[in-house]
Amino acid sequence: MRSTDTTPWHPASWQSLKAAQQPVYDDAAALSRVVAALARLPPIVVSWEIENLRERLAAVQRGESFLLQGGDCAETLEECESDRIAKQLKVLLQMSLVLLSGLKKPVVRVGRMAGQYAKPRSADSETRDGKTLPAYRGDLVNRPEFTPEARRADPQLLLRGYERAALTLNFVRALVDGGFADLHHPEYWDLGFVRHAELGSAYERIVHSIADALDFFESMTGQAVHEATRIDFFASHEGLHLLYEQAQTRFIPRQNRWYDLSTHMPWIGARTGQIDGAHVEFFRGISNPIGVKIGAAMDDQWLQELIARLNPQNQPGRLTLIHRFGVKDTERMLPRAIEAVRRTGHTVLWCCDPMHGNTETSTGGFKTRRFENILKELELSFRIHAELGSYLGGVHIELTGEDVTECTGGARGLTDADLKRAYRSQVDPRLNYEQALELAMLIAERSKRHA
Ligand code: PEP
Ligand code: CO
Repeated sequence: MRSTDTTPWHPASWQSLKAAQQPVYDDAAALSRVVAALARLPPIVVSWEIENLRERLAAVQRGESFLLQGGDCAETLEECESDRIAKQLKVLLQMSLVLLSGLKKPVVRVGRMAGQYAKPRSADSETRDGKTLPAYRGDLVNRPEFTPEARRADPQLLLRGYERAALTLNFVRALVDGGFADLHHPEYWDLGFVRHAELGSAYERIVHSIADALDFFESMTGQAVHEATRIDFFASHEGLHLLYEQAQTRFIPRQNRWYDLSTHMPWIGARTGQIDGAHVEFFRGISNPIGVKIGAAMDDQWLQELIARLNPQNQPGRLTLIHRFGVKDTERMLPRAIEAVRRTGHTVLWCCDPMHGNTETSTGGFKTRRFENILKELELSFRIHAELGSYLGGVHIELTGEDVTECTGGARGLTDADLKRAYRSQVDPRLNYEQALELAMLIAERSKRHA
């Protein structure tokens, strides 16, 4: 064990370590005022919801249920709009019903939403036409326009992000309580793409069987599904901006533990997982279930130390490893990672992010991902876990409920030439509504065939 394991933890103990990907603010006094305000404001989530999620993730880890984690690469302050949020929730709920019908297991739904405002970047600055400015780091930090004013790290944006996160989750909670009563009407599913899909009739069967099952349930219980069973939904974001996360971290006497109350499930990104870095130090002391992104650059020793540091008690549901090796490295890296974790004697929840290892640049210069590669990485991952007697318990997807054109492929066969039509992401390309639903249907179909 390293010395940092025995040094006392407190919400600011990360500050003595190197913190990657943090913005530089030019007004320290203004920043301190904002952080103090954030520390007084009410939390976005509460500890018993977090404990509830941890228990559900423990069930996933035991192979009893499945995790669906998805949402935008980055939310923006401007797009905190009712229609967009409702669509995001709709696609996630519909995907979860499709997965439930195929996998025959409960699905734990976790949105990348209500706080996904801070982004890691490959370079600290960006140069255009000979002019260099700080990189855009997400709406929690600065703005995407290429001007010195927009790119200045503005502490007030921390408050704006906190407020938008609260507004988003408030609306999500209301929608979820209302139960999305329309969920089982096939006309509520936008299945226009099915006509173009090879497996079109199988997709229609899935939707009709979901509708039939829900109708059957309602006639048996005499109650609408949403009145009889609560639909649960949890929030997650990358815990990147450590002052923001620290300000929302509270000691809960009833639980006798510290929680980061900015979200239910924060995760450490692939760029901030250094063992001796500030992010691992901060995450080690909070009691939330946490995720860590695992990329091809991380070796066995790193993985094993990470587990020792972040989940020394081997608490079920605490640690989700989200592997994102890409199609090209999955066969080489994933078996090694599974074996390295096994040698620790600890268990983790394995989740596959088939997006971040498969990013490429289109012929027209757009950052894109191919549907076929996303599907292929998922299939490889399901197969490798099964072959090694391990359980792939979840998927982590960047998606939107809207009709964007950011990833190619899918039933409509989007090509590079289509990307310019509706490319809206400031950062990574997302699956659109149809592609996301199709991906869930393909997972459901294939799992039936292998059952
Ligand atoms: C992300 O999830 O948007 C992201 C930046 O991923 P990663 O840390 O895996 O690169
Ligand atoms: Co991303």
